[in-house]
Amino acid sequence: MRIDILTLFPEMFEGVFSKSIIKRAVDAKKVEIHFHNFRNYSTDSHHKVDDTPYGGGPGMVLACQPIFDCVRSLRTENSKIILLTPDGVVYRQKIAYDLAKESHLIFICGHYEGFDERIRSICDLEISIGDYILTGGEIASMVLVDSIVRLLPGVIDEESHLQDSFNQSLLDYPVYTTPRIYEGMEVPSVLLSGDHQKIEEYRYQERVKRTQDRRPDLLSNK
Ligand SMILES: C[S@@+](CC[C@H](N)C(=O)[O-])C[C@H]1O[C@@H](n2cnc3c(N)ncnc32)[C@H](O)[C@@H]1O
Repeated sequence: MRIDILTLFPEMFEGVFSKSIIKRAVDAKKVEIHFHNFRNYSTDSHHKVDDTPYGGGPGMVLACQPIFDCVRSLRTENSKIILLTPDGVVYRQKIAYDLAKESHLIFICGHYEGFDERIRSICDLEISIGDYILTGGEIASMVLVDSIVRLLPGVIDEESHLQDSFNQSLLDYPVYTTPRIYEGMEVPSVLLSGDHQKIEEYRYQERVKRTQDRRPDLLSNK
């Protein structure tokens, strides 16, 4: 998979993408990630990327030209162009699985008051990571990239994400490690029984119970 991220602040990604599973996936050539400061595409003599909104109002609005030209230089017929925006579809694990099947993702990170409405016309998908306002789309795109890259074949053990929360509309089961008793709290005895079928059943029941308690909405969306 190839990922291109259009951002005014590429340096924001340095720490996040140079560690852990994403770094390993890049090193293993499972994914290539490229950053593009669309300021470099501005035809304005001062490399301006924004302007005041028509009709008045607070803040600055990202203009079409630098983003259109940057996207045009990158897109191919296999590209999926994703705009990070609070009024987009709310991100879910199901979308992460769908996007993990694509070969080329282009993310557009907004900033300031927002972006010129016409930028939506070049996007295939508009995604929000939740009902709150971030300063820019950078952190939102990091969330998407992290959740997608870990699903790419060979990045992590498939078994370990198939039972993650949200698969089969259920949350994950509780896990324990050593010691067996910690400050009076014991590991459930079934996990020490060595009976794999019983352990499977216990874990499934715990997934259902936890989902009913914490996220009954997941069960009704099934
Ligand atoms: C300060 S926000 C603009 C918010 C805009 N005025 C509004 O109320 O919808 C600047 C940029 O951050 C990104 N952003 C902010 N919140 C987001 C969210 N919840 N999900 C995805 N992107 C978000 C978008 O790219 C947005 O254009």
